[in-house]
Amino acid sequence: MAEAVTDDGFVVFDRVQKSYDGETLVVKDLNLSIAKGEFLTMLGPSGSGKTTCLMMLAGFETATHGDIRLGGQPINNIPPHKRGIGMVFQNYALFPHMTIAENLAFPLEVRKMGKSEREAKIKRALDMVEMGSFGGRRPSQLSGGQQQRVALARALVFEPELVLMDEPLGALDKQLREKMQFEITDLAHNLGITTVYVTHDQTEALTMSDNVAVFDDGRIQQLAPPDLLYEKPENSFVAQFIGENNTLEGVVTEISGDTCLVRLDDGEELDATPINVSKVGERTKVSIRPERVEYNKERLQEGAHTLKAEVLEFIYMGDIFRTRLRVAGNDEFIIKTRNAPDVERLKPGQQIEIGWLPQDCRALDA
Ligand SMILES: Nc1ncnc2c1ncn2[C@@H]1O[C@H](COP(=O)(O)OP(=O)(O)OP(=O)(O)O)[C@@H](O)[C@H]1O
Ligand SMILES: [Mg+2]
Repeated sequence: MAEAVTDDGFVVFDRVQKSYDGETLVVKDLNLSIAKGEFLTMLGPSGSGKTTCLMMLAGFETATHGDIRLGGQPINNIPPHKRGIGMVFQNYALFPHMTIAENLAFPLEVRKMGKSEREAKIKRALDMVEMGSFGGRRPSQLSGGQQQRVALARALVFEPELVLMDEPLGALDKQLREKMQFEITDLAHNLGITTVYVTHDQTEALTMSDNVAVFDDGRIQQLAPPDLLYEKPENSFVAQFIGENNTLEGVVTEISGDTCLVRLDDGEELDATPINVSKVGERTKVSIRPERVEYNKERLQEGAHTLKAEVLEFIYMGDIFRTRLRVAGNDEFIIKTRNAPDVERLKPGQQIEIGWLPQDCRALDA
């Protein structure tokens, strides 16, 4: 597990634990340092502790153990109105008795901003979420997705130093969602806002973030930039949770430096890169991404490991071909191939040989 956080990020969680009932820990050991201006996403399954972490950072819940620091100071010592935090919650609570424009004016009035500046900011924020003509309505007169967009505008309108967003785009359709993803990251980067964003949509996490913290069971399983997270998962949970992944199970039979040999459960042997296996005899799940697998002999690189496979299904998807294979007893082995004129379209029942480089094949915990 991670060491205690000693560097001074803008936001720091230092050995934080949280229990609501005094018995079970829903956050077990959280160590996280977020730089000023960074866009960090917390990604993880339902119940893994993401909202709890945001609530502690916002000051609505207190940590059972450990420290949370904002700008070098323990959060408990900073009064809420001085925290400069903008928030969008999972249940976008707008003030029901105020119009949309009044909802947005509120954080600006609290900050004693003059009327003309206020109006310009409100307009800009509402236009950003495509709600420019709704300023006079009340929240009850809007759809769920529209309310969510207003909540987003209200969190950003006063250009806070830190914004916390808990699934802010959950109620939007795909097109609007993608547009808003772009708007949010663009705005955050342009204004230098530090953002802690929560989602369980992994595509959203990969496309928006500087860093992603993958949560499971009250712990960060891996914290990394999107490309590293996808290409170099450090454990089986992360490999399965992020993107599509093939798993072959077996036992480590040899291990030396940066290579190991794995005997798969059907008897075949395979070269892999040992990631979190340490000794001979240990069970392992070997992970290979679908786009790293090649079946065209001419394209196989030197040193590639090959295995026999049977084609079970071939799906034409336009830009790529998605083929399901039986490999070493696994009927759910997926490969993805870019559609190009010289690429063979496989047929169910066909026997082929597939290959990949040992460095693309990661021996992880079983
Ligand atoms: N106020 C509360 N009192 C008691 N238990 C709570 C409370 N809030 C959350 N929990 C529990 O803490 C755990 C973590 O919840 P949390 O809301 O942080 O999860 P999450 O990662 O945000 O999940 P989701 O993706 O479903 O929003 C869950 O088991 C949940 O039931
Ligand atoms: Mg939540």
